Formats: sequence, C-alpha cells, structure tokens
Amino acid sequence: MCGIVGYVGKRSAQDVVVEGLRRMEYRGYDSAGIALLDADNEGLAVRKKSGKLANLEKLIAEEPLPDSTIGIGHTRWATHGGPTDANAHPHLGRAGRLAVVHNGIIENFAELRLELEAAGHDLLSQTDTEVAAHLLEAELDTGADLTVAMQRVCQRLEGAFTFVAIDSEDPDRIVGARRNSPLVVGIGEGENFLGSDVAAFIEHTSEAMELGQDQVVTITRDGVSVSGFDGSPGQGQRYHVDWDLSAAQKDGYDWFMRKEIHEQPRAVADALLGRRDADGQLQLDEMRLSDDELRGITKIIIIAAGTSFYAGLVAKYAIEHWCRIAVEVELSSEFRYRDPILDHSTLVVAISQSGETADTLQAIRHARTQRSKVLAICNTNGSTIPRESDAVIYTHAGPEIAVASTKGFLTQLVACYLLALYLAQVKGTRYGDEITTVVEQLEAAPDQIAAVLESSAGTMKRLAGEYLEAQTFLFLGRHAGYPVALEGALKLKELAYRHAEGFAAGELKHGPIALVADGLPVFCVVPPEGRDFLHDKMVSGIQEVRARGAHTICLVEEGDESIAPYADEIVWLPKVPVLLQPLVATVPLQLFACELATALGHDVDQPRNLAKSVTVE
Ligand code: F6R
Repeated sequence: MCGIVGYVGKRSAQDVVVEGLRRMEYRGYDSAGIALLDADNEGLAVRKKSGKLANLEKLIAEEPLPDSTIGIGHTRWATHGGPTDANAHPHLGRAGRLAVVHNGIIENFAELRLELEAAGHDLLSQTDTEVAAHLLEAELDTGADLTVAMQRVCQRLEGAFTFVAIDSEDPDRIVGARRNSPLVVGIGEGENFLGSDVAAFIEHTSEAMELGQDQVVTITRDGVSVSGFDGSPGQGQRYHVDWDLSAAQKDGYDWFMRKEIHEQPRAVADALLGRRDADGQLQLDEMRLSDDELRGITKIIIIAAGTSFYAGLVAKYAIEHWCRIAVEVELSSEFRYRDPILDHSTLVVAISQSGETADTLQAIRHARTQRSKVLAICNTNGSTIPRESDAVIYTHAGPEIAVASTKGFLTQLVACYLLALYLAQVKGTRYGDEITTVVEQLEAAPDQIAAVLESSAGTMKRLAGEYLEAQTFLFLGRHAGYPVALEGALKLKELAYRHAEGFAAGELKHGPIALVADGLPVFCVVPPEGRDFLHDKMVSGIQEVRARGAHTICLVEEGDESIAPYADEIVWLPKVPVLLQPLVATVPLQLFACELATALGHDVDQPRNLAKSVTVE
C-alpha cells in the first residue's frame, strides 16, 4: 500500500528521500510528503501534497526545503480520509515536535481519537496516522526518547501498521516499527535507511535487514538497534539484496509494465534455475517440509488474491493431474470466513507476489492455528508471508514495479508447476522420466515466451487501435486456458478501465452469451490440438459467439488451421502441452492491455485506485 522512506547519513536527505519515494510510488500515489530535520537545528520542515510525487516536487521547487541529512517520506494509498493535502503524510504531533509516516490501518483509532479530543487535542486530518502522531508526541513530552515512545504507543495500537518517525529535539535518530506491515532497514557506511521495501534504498546499498513482527528499530548514522514493542532487546536478520538499481529502472521502456512483460523470458529462466540436482532430481531449496510430511498430505488448499489466484487455478489442474491430490483454490479474502476444513494432512499453499497481501497473510495464520502446514510461493525475499510459512518457493522474478502483475504471474506459474512435479516425485505418482520431460518442456518456455512476444507485439498494438472505442470485452478459455481468460480480463479492467469478463467457454450458453452483440471483441484461448475433446468444444464456443456477431480474436497453437474459418484474428502460440499453455497464452493478453491503456492515455504503471501490495484487509 503506502511507500515509506527514511534516511540518516551525510547526503542531502531531500535527494535520498525523494528518489526513494520515486521508487516507492508504485505502492500508492494518492499523495506524497516529506519531513526533514533542519541541519541548523531549526526544527522540522514539512512539505506534502495530494496527487503524484510530481506535485510534491513542484511544491518543493516553489517552497525549497532547508539543508538536511535526516528525513522521512511517504507516498500514500488512501484508507482513512480522502487523498487531500491535509490527509497526506507526514503527520505532526500536537506541538509539531514530531513527524510520522504510516502504512496500514490502526483499527482502534476511533476510540484513541476520542480520548485525544477529550484531552483537548485538535486533530487536523481524518487519518488514523495523526492519532499516532499525537500519542507519540505525548510520550516524548513525558521525557521518553523516540524509541521508548514508539514502543509504548505501539503497545496501545490494534491493526496492521508500519511507522517511521523523527523527533526535532533528537536530530540524530529515526525510529521505525512494524506489525503485519513491511519495513526493511538498509545498511550503509555512515548512513542508514528505512524503506517499505529495498527499492527505497537499492541505489545506495545492497545490505539489508529484515525486521520481525512487533519490532521497533532505531537507526542513526552509525548504528541500527532493534527491540520488541515491550522494550526487550531484539534482532533483525541481515541479508544481501541480489538485484541492483537497473532492475528498478525503466531501461528505455515507456512503462515498467512493458519492461516487465519483456523481461519474462529471463524471469521464467531464473525461476527454473538450480531446481535439479546432479542426478536430475528436482530440489526446492526452501522446501523445509520432509518427504514424509509431504507424503502424508491428502488435500491441498491454495489461497491467493487477484492474479495470484489465477496462478492457483492453473496449479490445481497441474497438481491434480500429476500428483492425484485433491486441490481446492480459494480467494484468501474469503478463506477464513467459511470455516474451512483443515488439519495436519492439509497443505495450504499461499501464492503472493509481494508476500504482504493482508488477506493472504491472515488466511495462512488461520491455517496454521488449525495445524496445517503452509507453503508460500513468493517473489519477495524476507516478506511476511514466507517468513510465517513452513516452506517457501521463491519465484526469482526480480522486482516488479508496475502495479499490474506480469512477470510475477508467469514465475508463479513456474513455481506451481515445480511444486506439482516435486510432489509427484516425492509421492511417486509420476515416473522420473515423465517428470524430466515436463521439466525440459518448462526449460523450453523462455524461448517460446520470447517468440510470442516477438510475433504478437505488433498485432496487439494494432488491435488496441482498432478497439479503442470498445467498452466491453470477453475472454473465453477452457481447462488451463480458463484462468488465462480471467487474467486477460483482469489486466484489461485494471489498466484500460474497460468492462471485461473472463469465462469458462462452456459456461457461455448458461447466461453470458446474452452479452454478445454485434462487434463485441471476444478473445478466445484455444486449447492445443491433441486434447481433441477440449479443443472441439472450444471451437463450438467460438462458433456460437461468432454467429451472434462477435469479433473473435483467437489465440491458437501454430499449425492449428481448424480455427481459421471462425476467427477474425489469429494470434499464433508456440506448440506446448495444454497444462503449460498459460505460460505463452497470457503474454499477448498482457500486451493488449498495456497497448490499449497506452492508447487511451492512461498511466499504465499506476492505474487509478490501485496500489501494488494490498496490506489492508
Ligand atoms: C493484478 C495484481 C493483483 C495481485 C493481488 C495479489 O495485476 O497484481 O491482482 O495479484 O493483489 O497480490 P500478491 O500476489 O502480492 O499477493
């Protein structure tokens, strides 16, 4: 959700914080703000502005900030209170001694606000954050230092939150805290950083420290110290970030999304790296569940949200087919409210690119209380979901900056296939040579994805131009093509703001076909030949919509000429097995959404109302 940056060192804090905010902006862009401690001990200097970071930069140009080497910044995704200047962070304490930025939601803020108002505090915004600012400053006024004030206040708060604060009477330290919301420390020489994720400081240091749940961190120029909310000494975990600044830059592309779409061949190759030992057996580094534990699994429940949920739907087809284990796929926001049947023989697989999604995090916590083992599929090292899981498969896609997930999704698919094959290996439901064949098919995917990118990019751009005025789009698929249809529709909704629906093609005649009217664009993901039954049924579905005037854009395996009579447009896909088809079929749909949104003049990387990781339930 919101992006947070903190810096203390020798450089210009304004430069470091604003640059960090630029890299954090994908997390939220309703407003941005900065607070610095004046180098001449003149107290706090604050600038904040609704809208994107550019608005804040303009304000700073008009009202320059003083020199400073310590400061904090924030880019907001609005929760409590609209995206106004007053609600923008940082928020100040009662007398303006302290400034704080915040991500998350303080659930008991209403009662705390009443308490403050009864004590005569004037709150200037509608945010829950300002309540924390006043509470923190009240603690400082009792003589506590900022670290102790943070510990005390956090103990009073309910909900999920990250805070980063500075105190104008203590100009050498920044204090942060986290509960169910991300915060990482960047460790430099004579300087230290705080960030919602490592992108905030990656151009300055690759040395990072992850913080545990309910921890407070204090950074100065020369040190980092960690404690619990109760003041007990704590420890963070140091790690090295294995990607660099270039991964967080656009490299000449107009959008991060386009760059990330084009990075997919490499991302998929990286997701497959090092997964086989010298004997060709699959190995998953952070599996941490023993073969015996895996053999004891009788049911798998996959939980995820949005695009990651669609990866879970594909995983169901693969796991059930290769491993003969029953798989349920559930939206994480619904999971714990339906009282799911869980026990020690249920494996819960949580798929989350960010590793922070609050719905998914709460769902895995529920699963663990029911004694189920949890395996996370995640792209973000050290994030909360993998940390709270029994096992992890990291997807190694590198940072995904565009709000819409692309390479995150394809690499989740790879991780799902690897998990399915690994379970098949352990449970003996597939012979070794069968597993090797699929792994080799997966290893061919990077080149196939590159080929689809090359062959479909021009067509998708042209089609985007042709469908500029279309208000509704349908996407049809069957089997593993069904989640692809859902994903194609989601991408279009979130980027082009057009009405788009994905359907299992067989469901069409049970209602949705009533939507079909003359000229309606319908994307059809055609299963590969060889699955004749599926393929033929899909052809019937295409005929049905075409007969009612739809424009059919068919994603078809090379050499399959049977679709030509019913297709207004054919997008050729490389020949791949049906279960792996999502790896190639998703790509043209990503490109189409990107092109249509670009042609419509939308901000592709930062679509309206969205943010990259959804850390509120
Ligand atoms: C869509 C998209 C979202 C996420 C969803 C879950 O492009 O990115 O639908 O997939 O918010 O996020 P993660 O995977 O971080 O849990």
